[in-house]
Amino acid sequence: MQLPLEKLRQHVDNYNKLADDANWNRFKSLHWNEIRPELLTQGQKDAVIFVTYVEDHLPGYFAEYQSLFPITAEGMKESIHNRELFHFTVRWSLEEDRHAQALALYQFHSGMEPNRDLLEEKLIIENRKPFSIGFSKPVQVFTYTLLQEKATQLYYQSLSRVVKEPVLNRLLVYLTKDESRHFGFFCEIVESFLTTFGDEVIPLIEEVTLNYKMPLHNTMSDYRRKAILMAREAPGYDRMLPQKVLMRQLRRVGERMSEIKKPIEESITRMMDSLRIGTIEDVV
Ligand SMILES: [Fe+2]
Ligand SMILES: [Fe+2]
Repeated sequence: MQLPLEKLRQHVDNYNKLADDANWNRFKSLHWNEIRPELLTQGQKDAVIFVTYVEDHLPGYFAEYQSLFPITAEGMKESIHNRELFHFTVRWSLEEDRHAQALALYQFHSGMEPNRDLLEEKLIIENRKPFSIGFSKPVQVFTYTLLQEKATQLYYQSLSRVVKEPVLNRLLVYLTKDESRHFGFFCEIVESFLTTFGDEVIPLIEEVTLNYKMPLHNTMSDYRRKAILMAREAPGYDRMLPQKVLMRQLRRVGERMSEIKKPIEESITRMMDSLRIGTIEDVV
């Protein structure tokens, strides 16, 4: 089940029209000499370390997309679809790779890890561990990524509200803007699956939402404790918010498409029960 080429092309074009203008320079846009490390709390430093690992798993993520959407697919039609998607994947990966490196550079310049070789060694240890999105159907891969993009956007946004160190603050603003654009792309894609395939895709989206876990949850040592501590650093961050945002988005699609309104609402009820979510009305 794949999106028709003309729809996919429209989404990828929309994304790259924005992305090609949305550049910042990981080496020059941040003024490293203005870092004031004394303004960082230990909790904030730990949060930076954690998100550097999360962003730095990009090579595994990119490889997963390449193997799920190969240019050398069996049929010509699929190859064309995958080539079109690659226009997005490669640009998006560039942006994610910039996040990883900018955060690593921040660790280096702030003195959190003054030895770049050592820093890279620590990062590669996590990077070498196996990574899998855990889903292979396109709509599920995109739903998973949508949730992850929303989680990172919300986290950076919440963290930036309390970080007093000016350079980290600026970096978090850059990251938030990129993540929000990434989320926008996956939102369009998931909606497109619903408008193209109707209620067929609802159980697939539901399955991902119910089983969503952040990358590294099963490979990083002491992940759970670190994740709880990192969430505490970002007041207002709610780990269920990405799922709630997705449910709201599904509800809006149902309101526009009366023929799938009922199965969407039933699915939302099941997800809310299962995830013990009381309301999604307060979600924008
Ligand atoms: Fe990112
Ligand atoms: Fe992202």
